[in-house]
Amino acid sequence: MVEEYNKNIVALGLPTDKVFAKKGNLLSDNPSEGFSDPEYFNFDLIIIGFALHHFKSPDLAMRRLVERLAPGGILVVLDFVEHSIEVENGVTASGFGPDLRRQFENAGVGDGFDYVVPDRGVMRGKPPKELRYFLARGKRPNSVTIQS
Ligand SMILES: C[S@@+](CC[C@H](N)C(=O)[O-])C[C@H]1O[C@@H](n2cnc3c(N)ncnc32)[C@H](O)[C@@H]1O
Repeated sequence: MVEEYNKNIVALGLPTDKVFAKKGNLLSDNPSEGFSDPEYFNFDLIIIGFALHHFKSPDLAMRRLVERLAPGGILVVLDFVEHSIEVENGVTASGFGPDLRRQFENAGVGDGFDYVVPDRGVMRGKPPKELRYFLARGKRPNSVTIQS
């Protein structure tokens, strides 16, 4: 997937030093090789699309992404609304339900939480079912106030 992405970036004539894919394990105890560099921190925006339901621990994955946001940075999650298709083939969650706001808060991006479910879903599973998906966002606070 990473190779295909990078090939497409070249084919589109986009700047490969700015737009590129790189493989790493977000859940490893130490950052994957090359991901400790400062350029991989302090992002204004991180978007994770239809991937969170594949992580062994979606909560840990969210915390790890938030660690890489700048103060005031935004995390956007696109993923499936809770559904009844059984988890298999590397899928670890049957979508996300009413706990999502708390998951954003616990990950440190509870500020300005917002959540929308588009009118139309996408087809998935065998036989295919229409699955609804959401876009959710939350902000890392601009600063942390320490109470004395
Ligand atoms: C269904 S794909 C989504 C890919 C892409 N966002 C898209 O919309 O086409 C799920 C992705 O989650 C990634 N993933 C699962 N666990 C991971 C982990 N621990 N660290 C990094 N990526 C992980 C997989 O490598 C896979 O690329």
